Parts: sequence; C-alpha cells; structure tokens
Amino acid sequence: MSNPTRRDFIANTASATAAIGAAAFLVPEGFGAWQTTKPAAPGRVINIGLIGAGGRGSGAANDSLSANPNVRVVAIADLDVEKAKGVRDALAEAHNKEGATRIAVPDERIFGGIDGYQKVLDLKDVDLVILATAPGFRPVHLVAAVAARKHIFAEKPLCVDVAGYHAVCAAHDKALAQGTSIVTGTQYRRQTSFLEGMKRIREGMIGEVVGMTARYCSNGIWYRERKPGMSDMEYQIYNWMHFIWLSGDQAGEQAVHNIDVVHWVMGGPPVRAFASGSRWNRPADSEMWDSVSCDFEYADGRICSFTGRHWGNADNQFDNIVYGSKGIAYLRAFDAGTQITDRSGKELFSMKGSIGAAYRQEHKELVDAVVAGKPIVEARQTAESSLMAVMAREAAYSGQTATWEFMTTKSKLDLMPKVVTIPGEAPKPFVRKPGEYRLQ
Ligand SMILES: NC(=O)c1ccc[n+]([C@@H]2O[C@H](COP(=O)([O-])OP(=O)(O)OC[C@H]3O[C@@H](n4cnc5c(N)ncnc54)[C@H](O)[C@@H]3O)[C@@H](O)[C@H]2O)c1
Repeated sequence: MSNPTRRDFIANTASATAAIGAAAFLVPEGFGAWQTTKPAAPGRVINIGLIGAGGRGSGAANDSLSANPNVRVVAIADLDVEKAKGVRDALAEAHNKEGATRIAVPDERIFGGIDGYQKVLDLKDVDLVILATAPGFRPVHLVAAVAARKHIFAEKPLCVDVAGYHAVCAAHDKALAQGTSIVTGTQYRRQTSFLEGMKRIREGMIGEVVGMTARYCSNGIWYRERKPGMSDMEYQIYNWMHFIWLSGDQAGEQAVHNIDVVHWVMGGPPVRAFASGSRWNRPADSEMWDSVSCDFEYADGRICSFTGRHWGNADNQFDNIVYGSKGIAYLRAFDAGTQITDRSGKELFSMKGSIGAAYRQEHKELVDAVVAGKPIVEARQTAESSLMAVMAREAAYSGQTATWEFMTTKSKLDLMPKVVTIPGEAPKPFVRKPGEYRLQ
C-alpha cells in the first residue's frame, strides 16, 4: 500500500490490526463500537484514568485531586511505565493521607505500549480520563474516549492538522448527543483575571473592539537527546516537540493559549490568515521554526495579529492586548493579571492573575458537571483555536494566504502516520520552505 489515504487506511484497519498485533497503534474508525458503560451517576466517587503521565498529565491529575474531594486515580497509561509508576507514587504520597486511597493504581493498572490508552478506556470503572500525551495523538485518543463513553479532560491543542480537527468536531457532536463531558486545557477561559477583563470588554469599557495583538515570545523550549537503542519512532515520540505531526510546532503547542484568546475576544475563527516566520537556530533534526507571526483577518475587516517565537537572550512577552475605540485591555498570561486603561493611559481596572487557580478550576467545573449530570462539551471551540494555529503555521510555512473555508472544506492536511509501532519507523523529518511547500 503506497501512500494510503486515511479512508483506505480505515477500510483496512481490521486486517492491519491482526497483522501488526498488540504493539501497534492504529487510527481508529471512531464511532463503531459503543460500550455499555454509563456516564457517572451523581453522588459517587469519580474514577480517573490518566493517559500521558508527563509534566502536565501528572500536574492535571494533581489539580483534579486538589480541587475535587470526590475523585480518585485508578489507572495510568504512558509509554514509559517506570515514569508512570513514579507519578503514581508521587501522587500517592501527596494524596493518600490519613488512610485515604485516592490513588488506587496497582502495577497491573499501569499500561505501557502504544495501545495502553485503550486498556484504560476498556476499564469499566473509569469514569473520566485525562488526555495529556504528545498532542499528535489527541484526536485519536479523544475519539476513542468518546466512543468508550468516558468524560474527558483533554489538554490543548486538540489537533495539529485538518484531519484531526474534523475528528475532534465529530467527537464533540457525539459527546453532546450522548451526554458526556469534554473540558479542555485552555485554562485562561477559567482564570478570574481573564474572565473579569472579558466581562468589562463585553460591557463596553474599551468601547468597540477594533483589533488585538496576542504574543507568545519566550527564550526557547526543551530538546531531548536521542537515547542509545531508540528506534526512530521511539525517539520522535520522546522528543515530540520537534516533530510537527506530534506537536504542531510552537503555534499549536504553546501559543494556542493566546490564539484561543483571540478566538474568545472575536467570538470565533477568522476568514483568512497571512503569515510569516523564520528558522535559523533549531537543532538540525528539528522540524520546528523559530518564529511565526500571523494576521488573522475577520469578515468585517478587523485584524488580530499573533506573534510567537523562541529566541534565546531576547525579551519574553506573553500579553494579549485588545484595542478598543475608547481604551485598551491587557489580558496578561500566567500570573501577570489584567489591566484596562482609557486611550490616555489612565487605569480603569486592574486585577492580579493566578494561573494555578485556573488549572484547578477547569477540573472542578468538569467534575461538578459530571456529578450534576449537566455535561460541559467545549471540544469544538478548542478545535477551532487549534485549527487557527494550524492555519497560521501552514500560511507561514507556505507563504500562501490560508482561508478558513479552505482549511475546513478543502484541505487534506493529515500528518498522522497511518500506523505507529514501537519500535518502528517514523516520518522522515523535513523543514518546510516557503515557495516550495504548498498549502495542502
Ligand atoms: N495547559 C497548559 O498550560 C499546558 C502546559 C504544559 C503542557 N500542556 C499540554 O499537555 C500535553 C503534554 O505535555 P507535557 O508537557 O506533559 O509533555 P511530556 O513530554 O512531559 O509528557 C507527555 C507524556 O506522554 C507520554 N506519551 C506520549 N505519547 C504517548 C502515547 N501515544 N501513549 C501513551 N503515552 C504517551 C510520554 O511518554 C510522556 O510521559 C501537551 O499537549 C501539551 O501541549 C498544557
């Protein structure tokens, strides 16, 4: 099968599964095999399965345990079983206090392997899963978790390509129809300083919104050296930030937070994106660019600009700045808070920020929604922000103007390898060059 399409692949899934065996990860058909597990009933403990026990996955589990007295962790999947055991032990030390068993994960409930996520989803006593692996796997894991009727906390970004966007939107609709929740890791939407700033923008404190700027400019990002004996696939997943099919590049993996604020302020996606960028200081095998800047143009002509970069020994900047006819709102990232001024610079409002509180609030709202039987389903919103990041990246890579209509109705961008095996081969890394690389 040379260069199979996703459809060919799906048609061949059953035979491929049989041929490749348990070590293979296959893009699933998605909505075929509904399980009989019911959404969690009110009033009982909510059992969490953690899928992806890295920095954020372990942090998200800790946030949920800290925010919700009625949750416990009962299973973990991670490619690195020893790391998962370490996370289990650290969470137990923090939360199994005074005889409580809030971490109830025996070794046989820690699943390695590329299909470990499915083993967690197959557990009938798991009510809710935290999806926090490398982003490239998110659509597949999200579709499978919805199919298993689990409530979901899904870290951002929700997709790194167009095929992933469509899969996530379909999963959103399915979750809505069946009454299960999907809350996403776009924590600024639950950060008090952002919410209070947005409320005042909506109430007219800065007049009419005429445009905005969103920045994610930092000194750099981690790079994980290949370990001896790693196959190409193991290495790429280990060093996932640097491979676009896994991370989506900086715009998707990090700056999606700020791009999501653009989506929030403007009330939806733009009509087109005009972008530029650079690459000169990445390690040789990294596919990432150093910077991407993009003008998102809205239907009424307003433009919101975004700048993302990883430059060492340069100024860091993470502000979202909303320009109004009467004033300016600074919705600052992390703990930097919100400030609103009039056009002369006179302060009209200010508030401190706490990103830590926002990280806990998203888990509180999710668990409260599950217990109350009133699902929150927000995957489409975050899929749109994630696709805006893809659009910015692809417009920069190609030098072409990308329209939302093209991205959502014509683009065939599908970066996920058809079969992932560990150990195994991986896509050959390459750096996209404007003029040569085209929108697809
Ligand atoms: N909301 C936020 O502020 C925030 C902050 C940091 C990270 N994140 C997001 O969280 C996600 C994880 O980031 P991280 O920093 O924790 O990365 P990480 O590399 O520390 O952890 C990822 C973990 O996932 C595991 N993994 C990767 N692919 C897997 C697969 N197919 N099956 C099972 N396990 C797999 C890895 O072994 C690793 O332990 C990313 O999507 C990232 O964008 C969000």
